[in-house]
Parts: sequence; structure tokens; C-alpha cells
Amino acid sequence: MTHYVGAIDQGTTSTRFMIFDRSGAEIARHQLEHRQIFPAAGWVEHDATEIWENTRKTIDVALGHAGLAPSDLAAIGITNQRETVVLWDKATGTPLAPAIVWQDTRTSALVEKLDGDLIRERTGLTPATYFSATKIQWLLDNGLRARAERGEVLFGTVDSWLIWNLTGGLHLTDVTNASRTMLMSLTTLEWDDELLALFDIPRAMLPEIRSSAEVYGTALDGVPLAAAIGDQQAALFGQTCFAPGEAKCTYGTGGFLLMNTGTDPVRSSHGLITTVAYRFGDDKPAYALEGSIAAAGAAVQWLRDQLGILDSAAMSETLAASVDDSAGVCFVPAFSGLYAPYWRPDARGAIVGLSRFHTAAHITRAALEAIGYQTRDVVEAMAQDSGAALDCLKVDGGVTANELCMQLQADILGVPVSRPAVAETTALGAAYAAGLAVGFWTSVDDLRANWREDRRWQPAWTDQRRAEGTTRWRSAIDRTLDWVI
Ligand code: G3P
Repeated sequence: MTHYVGAIDQGTTSTRFMIFDRSGAEIARHQLEHRQIFPAAGWVEHDATEIWENTRKTIDVALGHAGLAPSDLAAIGITNQRETVVLWDKATGTPLAPAIVWQDTRTSALVEKLDGDLIRERTGLTPATYFSATKIQWLLDNGLRARAERGEVLFGTVDSWLIWNLTGGLHLTDVTNASRTMLMSLTTLEWDDELLALFDIPRAMLPEIRSSAEVYGTALDGVPLAAAIGDQQAALFGQTCFAPGEAKCTYGTGGFLLMNTGTDPVRSSHGLITTVAYRFGDDKPAYALEGSIAAAGAAVQWLRDQLGILDSAAMSETLAASVDDSAGVCFVPAFSGLYAPYWRPDARGAIVGLSRFHTAAHITRAALEAIGYQTRDVVEAMAQDSGAALDCLKVDGGVTANELCMQLQADILGVPVSRPAVAETTALGAAYAAGLAVGFWTSVDDLRANWREDRRWQPAWTDQRRAEGTTRWRSAIDRTLDWVI
């Protein structure tokens, strides 16, 4: 009888392997960052080989920390950055191009030509460079089409890439990841022939679509590989949002608010997208409404890596806390255009309201506030779509370690913000899905019993301050639009 489940969490900036016990408590973890490659303005790439090597290393090191062997794991689940495109050689398993990351905007000209109504109706998505289809199309158009048509090239999102490597050659994806490609029908949950024709993508290069929780095969010499689920859906799972109306917001590189809407897809009239939340084996799928924010933690990463005004992400909290407010500065980190609820690929980032008085501390504080205001925009859209106002926001992800940022989030929203005891809910969600698939946990009630609040932030701003800040934010948003690229 094994007592543990493992989860691979392959995110935008790093890969971690985490081991959990039956109570959902963390036993061990190891994490490695990988290179962010920016070959041109708007381009973002990863090296898929580096990602696979880091995955192997994190598994070995985390098992070593815990003093465990692979056979001590009842199952492994995978959760991953979504939409990012990997193309590899079917015969050798070698990547054929750099992975094009979800944030990459090189395909904006292709997106402009799309029929928005068709895409929305068929996939639940708003056409955007964000999703996989135009990235695949771009790679085919830039040298790989002939080989793909001969059946020599395989496509996968990062889950598929890892499954292929872990199992020695199974070509699969799960329905949550497939729902982010702009190629899957939201109702049949299969690749859609009309969309494949539209993007000119050969069906033979696509993985088989499976549920999010079932035994796909074995990894590490015999451990059941029993879940694959996109990272934002995994966090919904880890937060135990199993009932319609339950929602969470995860702050990583981006920010993603998802609300479970039950077994029928709900269409948004306010700029959200409709996506698959999860599917257990042959059960009916659960759907979600999602408000996607392209840059949350990415704003802090940019201040650290590109501007060099922070030594570490953690320093953003101390520096921002050294001033009382941003003194009128607004920072809109529209590095990849604006996602929900605006969907404006032509937007570009801006820092507005500057005078010579302002310092790095004000700009850093404005970056933290931007996380809060962007979330407020999607919370409002969610309330309009669902007809129910939020009374508390459940949060998770790396940025929630920043206490000031979470206090600002409560201030800007005007409702409490609640963080669970396990803030790594993405990895936990993948472990839960894998554990359910092999009977390690028997029902979602076991998982609900594991959820505990760690910390709650109460709003402290007056209504007037909140209203003034929101007006300034919207005015800054207007200034980022129609940028001549
Ligand atoms: O859709 C992109 C998302 O899956 C990336 O998540 O946590 O790496 O920002 P994260």
C-alpha cells in the first residue's frame, strides 16, 4: 500500500515535482527554472528539451529529498502551462522548433483574419494569439508543412510532450488542454474538421483527446500516469471548486479566474471564455467560465529581469511597502496585448502618470496594484455573466506569498481574499486527479475535507478611494489601446 501521490507542475517559468500524502499535505518538492527566450518584440519561446530534462531532474531530486522510490507513489499526475506549442519528430522524439509560448503574439496577423463568431460558437474561445492553433499554423508555414503532411511531425501542448517522454511514446492530451487549442469542439470534445481545415493543420499530427483523470500508461518503471490537466483547471480542482458557482483565482506568470459552471457550457456576454474544467474518465465533463489575465507575476518578473530594479520577486513587497501608495502612477502590463475582458491584441504595456517625484518604489507598487485591478475587471465580468456577486475571492499561486499584493487585491475588490493552507493548489489538483483515478482517494468529499484556510485579507480602502483608483485604471487602459506596432 503506497501512501503518496506525485505531481509534475510544468509552469511558464519553472517546473516542479511535488509529493503529497493522503491529507493533501506536501511531503517534498523540487523546482527548477527554465530559460525565457525573447527573440523579438512580442515573441516568447521555450526549449522543450530543457523542460523535459528539468522535469526528470525535479522528479529524481524530490524523491531523494523524501527518501522515496518511484514505487512508493500510487500515481503521478501532470499539470502544465496551457496553449504552448511543441512540435517534434515522430521518429526521433526531437523537438523541431523552439516551443512557442502562450504569451507570444507573432501570429496577430493570422488572428485578425479569423471569423470570431465561428470560433466562439465552436470552441468557447475568443480568437487570440494566446491559443495554440495559429502558433501551429505559423510553424507549419515556416518550414515544417511538407514534413507534417508526410506524417513525420507531432504536435502537443506541454502535457502531451511530457506524456510522450514519460511513457516512451504515447501521443495523448487531455480534454482541458485540448480545449485551449482553438481546434476542439466544446460539445463533441473532439478535434473539429472544419477548424482543422481553416488552420490547415493535418489531423495526423494531433494527439488523441482523453479525459483528465484515467490511467494513460506507466512512467518511471511502473508508476501509473493517471492525470493530465491544464494548470488553471488543476488549481480549480486543488481548491475543491467542484460545485457550480465555486471559483478561484490563481496568480502565476498570468492570472486566471475560473468559475465552475457544471456540466453545461455557459457562454459569456462580458468578455470571458468558456473552457472545460475537468473530466473524470467517462463521466460528463465539467465546464468553467474563465477570465484570463496575460501578465500578473510577469509584471514583477519584468521589473526584476528586464529593468533590473528588483533583486528578487520577493523584494517587490518590501520596496512597494516603502511608499504609502503609487502616487497616481498606473502600470498596465499589456506585454502580450490585453486578454479578458478586453481581448485587444493591439494593446501594449504602459506606465502612465509619471513625474520626477516618482521612484522605483512607486512603479513597483503600481505593478502590484495592476494585478489587483486586472483581477477586478474579470471579477466584474464574472458577476455580470453569472448574476451573482462574489462575497470572497479564493486565491492561490506564487504571487499570493506577497502579502501586500493580497491586501491590495482585497482593497481593490472590496471583498475579502482567502488563501488556503496549501497555496500550491495547481500541483495539488493534479495529484488529486491522479489519486482519484487510481482509487487513492475515493471521492471528492475526501478532498473537500482537506481544504483549510490559511489567511484572509479584509478590504481596508474606502469606497471613494476604490472608485477613484478604478477610474484612473480604466483611463490608463484606454491609453494602451490602438498602439501602432
Ligand atoms: O494559460 C496559460 C497558463 O496556463 C499559464 O499559467 O501559472 O504558468 O502563469 P502560469
